[in-house]
Amino acid sequence: GGNQMWGGRFAEGPSAIMREINASIPFDKALWRQDIRASKAHVAMLGAMHIVSDEDAVTIERGLDQVAAEYEVNGVPEDWALEDIHMTTESRLAELIGPAAGRLHTARSRNDQVATDFRLWVRDAMDEAQAGLEALQRALVTRAGEHADSIMPGFTHLQTAQPVTLGHHLMAYYEMIARDRSRFADARKRLNRSPLGAAALAGTGFPIDREMTAQALGFDGPTANSLDSVSDRDFALDYLMAASQCALHLSRLAEEFIIWASQPFGFVALPDSLSTGSSIMPQKKNPDAAELVRGHSGRITGCLVSLMMTMKGLPLAYSKDMQDDKPPVFEAASLLALSIAAMTGMVAETRFRTDRMRAAAELGFATATDLADWLVRQADIPFREAHHITGAAVKLAEQRGVPLDQLPLEDLKAIDSRIDARVFSALSVEASVAARKSHGGTAPDQVRKQVALAREALGLE
Ligand code: ARG
Repeated sequence: GGNQMWGGRFAEGPSAIMREINASIPFDKALWRQDIRASKAHVAMLGAMHIVSDEDAVTIERGLDQVAAEYEVNGVPEDWALEDIHMTTESRLAELIGPAAGRLHTARSRNDQVATDFRLWVRDAMDEAQAGLEALQRALVTRAGEHADSIMPGFTHLQTAQPVTLGHHLMAYYEMIARDRSRFADARKRLNRSPLGAAALAGTGFPIDREMTAQALGFDGPTANSLDSVSDRDFALDYLMAASQCALHLSRLAEEFIIWASQPFGFVALPDSLSTGSSIMPQKKNPDAAELVRGHSGRITGCLVSLMMTMKGLPLAYSKDMQDDKPPVFEAASLLALSIAAMTGMVAETRFRTDRMRAAAELGFATATDLADWLVRQADIPFREAHHITGAAVKLAEQRGVPLDQLPLEDLKAIDSRIDARVFSALSVEASVAARKSHGGTAPDQVRKQVALAREALGLE
């Protein structure tokens, strides 16, 4: 007795603790749409191959539609005795259509069934990430186009380095997101083979048509090895790796917004809609959404590590450890979707305080490299020597408390006699960014060129 699905050889049913530790229905009910879809593809194939009668195939397909309609309205019932979504659905099907329901599981095992369902689910999650990231890229190129000329300080070590444009800075994230998208696309290609028909581990003696089910489910074809098909979860790990890398990019962008929103910076006014207040300090507007994106990136990477640790050391083929594959993937997917949406809103709606950015770019002697470059070009001084001369000029400007371009010419000449009045045209922040027109550089013309290419790639032109 005991379990109606597999209890034939058992004298006793499972203990309460066995039922509880075994039950995956509390989380794998999220697979119900994929499970119904895969079952319908399977039974249509069983009918076409005359493994079940046409009549039974049709009865089962209609029954599955009815189960789906019930789930849609009432949700999926959670009965631990039925273990998982696969047995929950089959059990309800049997209640609805009677003994014919028992023919659905012909030439199939829960092992290839869950591998199929989960691939379909992860494939959808990849597509969802693509759509979300495309929206984020659109927001980035739109704001970058608005700010191709807006000058801000560029940093290394978070110390003022050289002036850049805000458009250039935003386009840096466009590039990162483009690579994230290519990682999801690449992972999707590898995922897109159907494990259905691998059965428990060895394949099946029934004359199934794996091409047919693969095609019905939108796969590029069937997998080649039945043991591999039910044993590996590298498609889910590929997804989690792409998600982790993407979350890491989002976290860095979030971190920049947090810094920029801080009063001593004051580079941005975050949208009210993505900020919160303080219960005690009335003046506060906190960047909580950005902080949570930064926090979520850690959790997403935790999900990746979780599944890696589940899979390491498992012998072929299926082991029940693998049931633990789903919670980290589900968690990562929902955290990632939220993170992408939050950063898209932040990029689209933040007010950039370009006056504050421009003023900050004047601080910290950001055009010192331009002075050194000028000495190289106009006076043919080797760069290392020019670097040294410029260092002396920075030291003097620091003592006087003025920017480089406000040092009197005679003082500059006293440092090196080869300096003349033309140098001042090189020392403004505008001249500095305009000069950097190397491919991929921060010159406004270069930024506009990159924005135009990106808009074309996104189909915005
Ligand atoms: N709920 C199971 C899982 O998610 C389905 C596969 C069960 N297979 C088995 N041989 N017990 O992994």
